[in-house]
Amino acid sequence: MIKLRIENLRKSFDGNKVLDGINLGLEAGKVMAVLGPSGSGKTTLLRCLNFLERADDGKLLIDDVAVDCKAVSKKQILALRRKIGFVFQNYNLFRHMTAEKNVMEGLVTPRGVPAKEAREMARAVLDSVGLADKYYSYPTQLSGGEQQRVAIARAMVINPEILLLDEPTSALDPELVGEAMQIIKKIARSGITMIIVTHEMSFAYEAADYAVFMDKGTIVETGNPTELFDNPQEERTRQFLKRLHRDNRDNRDNRDNREKE
Ligand SMILES: Nc1ncnc2c1ncn2[C@@H]1O[C@H](COP(=O)(O)OP(=O)(O)O)[C@@H](O)[C@H]1O
Ligand SMILES: [Mg+2]
Repeated sequence: MIKLRIENLRKSFDGNKVLDGINLGLEAGKVMAVLGPSGSGKTTLLRCLNFLERADDGKLLIDDVAVDCKAVSKKQILALRRKIGFVFQNYNLFRHMTAEKNVMEGLVTPRGVPAKEAREMARAVLDSVGLADKYYSYPTQLSGGEQQRVAIARAMVINPEILLLDEPTSALDPELVGEAMQIIKKIARSGITMIIVTHEMSFAYEAADYAVFMDKGTIVETGNPTELFDNPQEERTRQFLKRLHRDNRDNRDNRDNREKE
């Protein structure tokens, strides 16, 4: 069953084509990893799916809601948003709210879930990401890894049809990336439909059904992760992967050196 279809999605900022006709489909329960150089349009793509950014043209099907981006109603946008959990690159937590309140917020105001019930649901999800002792902590009292887990809990508590994650580990210290990825892997395997922008190749290898390489607002190449990484067909993909391998190796070396010190 198809859960998400993107047809000919286009978006420009001041005449600068950021998404230049994106076509993608994803079946229910599948995980798609999106890779690509900085500025290639990955974040804009995710934001257009959630209408945080309005695409100039294109059609979207999300679960059972089909919209034409040029003629979408407020009601349709709300209906779509209810189906999508979004984990932002910098978490975007409310600074003045505890972890528990951050997770409850999306249930109470937009969905009208009674506070008592929302609190129970929030606590259950916080427990599941290992934050049972952090209900009352404010974001500034949490480590980067913990803040990220609150952000994941907030996205998951609405029981989304689709979970979108934008480079969820890019702001973390390298030694925290593995642990964070374990949590995301567990979610990926729970049967949710997921699009994750990530350059963590081990995640893509182990947990993604599809890998997509984007460059300059277009999809250059898609395939299963093993195909795409081990045998890229396009020169641009090859160049990007070469650079990525080098960066990953440098990061690993830096980490090893730090651990030795
Ligand atoms: N709100 C905006 N206004 C103007 N330009 C933007 C805006 N958001 C993104 N862009 C531009 O769109 C391009 C793609 O950005 P982005 O989607 O963030 O790429 P990526 O996530 O792949 O790094 C970049 O050139 C960026 O500067
Ligand atoms: Mg981005």
